[in-house]
Amino acid sequence: MKSKPPHRSLNCLDFFVNDSTTSKLCHLEAQACCFVVILSGYCQLTRGDSRERSNSCARVGCSSQSQLRYCNVKMRCVVAITIVIAFLQHGMGYTQERRYVEGSNMNLGEALQFLREYDREASGMCFRVTSSQWNYSTNITETNKRRMLEEQALSAKFHRLSWRRATSYTWTRLPDPIVRRQLHMLAIEGRAALPEEKFNELQQLISDMKEIYSRARTCPHSINSINYNYRQSGSCDLALEPDLTRIMSHSRDYEELLHVWRAWRDAVGPPIRSKYIRYIQLANHAARLNGFHDAGQQQREGYEDSDINTQLTELWTNLAPLYRELHAYVRHRLVERYGPERIRPDGPLPAHLLGNMWAQNWRSLADLVLPFPAKPTVDVSSEMLRQGYTPLRMFHLAEEFFTSLGLKPMPPEFWRHSMLEKPLDREVACRASAWDFCNHKDYRIKQCTTVSMDDLLTIHHEMAHIQYYLQYADQPLLFRDGANPGFHEAVGDAITLSVSNPRHLLGIGLLNNVTDDYESGINFLLLMALEKVAYLPFAYIVDQWRWGLFAGDWNIDEMNARWWELRLRHQGVIPPIPRTEKDFDPASKYHIPADMPYTRYFVSLVLQFQLHQALCEAAGHFGPLHTCNIYRSREAGRLLGDILSLGSSRPWPEVIRIMTRGRTDKLDAWPLLEYFKPLTMWLNVQNRDESMVGWSTTGEDTALFARWSQDGGYAVVPSVLITFLAVVFALS
Ligand SMILES: *[C@@H]1O[C@H](CO)[C@@H](O)[C@H](O)[C@H]1NC(C)=O
Repeated sequence: MKSKPPHRSLNCLDFFVNDSTTSKLCHLEAQACCFVVILSGYCQLTRGDSRERSNSCARVGCSSQSQLRYCNVKMRCVVAITIVIAFLQHGMGYTQERRYVEGSNMNLGEALQFLREYDREASGMCFRVTSSQWNYSTNITETNKRRMLEEQALSAKFHRLSWRRATSYTWTRLPDPIVRRQLHMLAIEGRAALPEEKFNELQQLISDMKEIYSRARTCPHSINSINYNYRQSGSCDLALEPDLTRIMSHSRDYEELLHVWRAWRDAVGPPIRSKYIRYIQLANHAARLNGFHDAGQQQREGYEDSDINTQLTELWTNLAPLYRELHAYVRHRLVERYGPERIRPDGPLPAHLLGNMWAQNWRSLADLVLPFPAKPTVDVSSEMLRQGYTPLRMFHLAEEFFTSLGLKPMPPEFWRHSMLEKPLDREVACRASAWDFCNHKDYRIKQCTTVSMDDLLTIHHEMAHIQYYLQYADQPLLFRDGANPGFHEAVGDAITLSVSNPRHLLGIGLLNNVTDDYESGINFLLLMALEKVAYLPFAYIVDQWRWGLFAGDWNIDEMNARWWELRLRHQGVIPPIPRTEKDFDPASKYHIPADMPYTRYFVSLVLQFQLHQALCEAAGHFGPLHTCNIYRSREAGRLLGDILSLGSSRPWPEVIRIMTRGRTDKLDAWPLLEYFKPLTMWLNVQNRDESMVGWSTTGEDTALFARWSQDGGYAVVPSVLITFLAVVFALS
């Protein structure tokens, strides 16, 4: 275990007691010591045994036997008092069970009637909104935008009304579990509880922030060096997509990368910051009206598990060692490329050198880090071109993957209305997406497909969404969703794990022979790790930051520092240049200004390997998990169909229980670790000579963003300590 920073600075010996103290003060000192210990590791201590506690006490300077005994005897009392103080400090209601909003109507028949009406009206509403969104995304004009906004406003009104009707029932006590579940989903939904003017203000804020984000443009590096005043320059029109993304992934020029990294954050951070502060207030206000402590708690309710954050933390703790191995290996290669004066060989990584604007996907570093560059990597793009593949044929190939499992083919409307290629006669939003029009008929994909392996994988992923839609089509509208917010993505990615497998590509004639040796396997797994393992900490911290902010765990004037603290602690990256609270770097990620939850991506990363493992087991796969391919397995298809057809009609732990055939009902990091096991062993060997697997953090690192971290991150302790001592005096 890594040693913690010493707490000597808070040593109670120096603080309260001198040589000639009375015994009472001695006891007091012991208590104070214990208290410091509690504050420095509350959970660890209360779970630990008494020896551990004694050791901890000794570490903070209370080493005499009598003090220790006292410490142990008084532990419970002290813990209780601590909890009371923590409770008071965090404000009433923090540890309190939430109270749902509900009314007095207990009539089950009326509730059933309401839900029947809701299903019909909401389906119609959903069809109209989705159609207008489709029309806009596939034909971007002002008229289509206006129509879409009108439909969205109508829909928002309808949902506010539905919230009111749903919460007029005493729904937590209705005897029918399916009715209860549906009303629960309606009652906790969104911001419907806000008064109209605040509701509109919040909608407007979010749409303003999204607008700032999507309109942001920056100057190119070379022009910038000549003339920094870009407003006078005509060519400052680089957009995040595709320009900045391309530079981030392809450039290996330290200064150019730094320029792009900074320019993007300058363009979006400061203008979004003040709007975001107001957004937090309104989102929290809505959450409280819904009976939640804050908007983060409201988001977590989507996981139906008040303990979900503990589960997430545990998962990340289990996965972090693998991430650190990858981090150390990649750092070694980057030091070779950029030099030790730019990257400390045992330190965190500058955030702009990882091939991605947020350092969340390191795949484009492949040319720098591929272990065995002489071995061919699997890319069937040119073979697809040689065989005369078209986008349509790629979609048919993907469909055949699903039907080979015994799952459903795409319906006729899919082929008639989908947008499979970029049209030439109008502007469209090219981001690939899968659509459910809520009418049991229309399911579409929108994708500007090019003939390439990447796009072939994307098609499989998007088509998995459609398969999910088709499988749960017979559920009530409210249950036509993933079992939890991570499921939809996980299903698509689990399918892709099979499809990207070289043996599968061989099987469908896109690869002539598979080089089945050790080196190719490691190459394959490393590329996967650059995409999935590298993403884990980022996917984890986005909502850790947001939830901390919503909960008021820290102040508005340290938002940016807290962001970087999380980035450094979990991701091992630092900003390449100093950041202040004028910057607002979280806004550089779309999901922050766009009000989109992020935990689903972390959940999906873990869950997709769980699902892959379960499907492979059903398919009777033997051998390493990364070589499995479920193509043509009816058994795997049956299991997948069972899972998908439930939609969100059941709590997701039950769905995981079905998936794992009763082995667990939890998210589980093990299948991911198992998948990457050969790579982990290889990385262990590679990193043998590293002075540090993981990263050491110096004052210089933290000084880049956080002045408060030097002059007293524990500044809160003395005041709490004094409160505590006052309580002890009062009691004794
Ligand atoms: C695009 O939308 C406009 C309305 O803004 C409409 O007149 C036009 O026909 C649409 N184009 C296509 C190809 O659908």
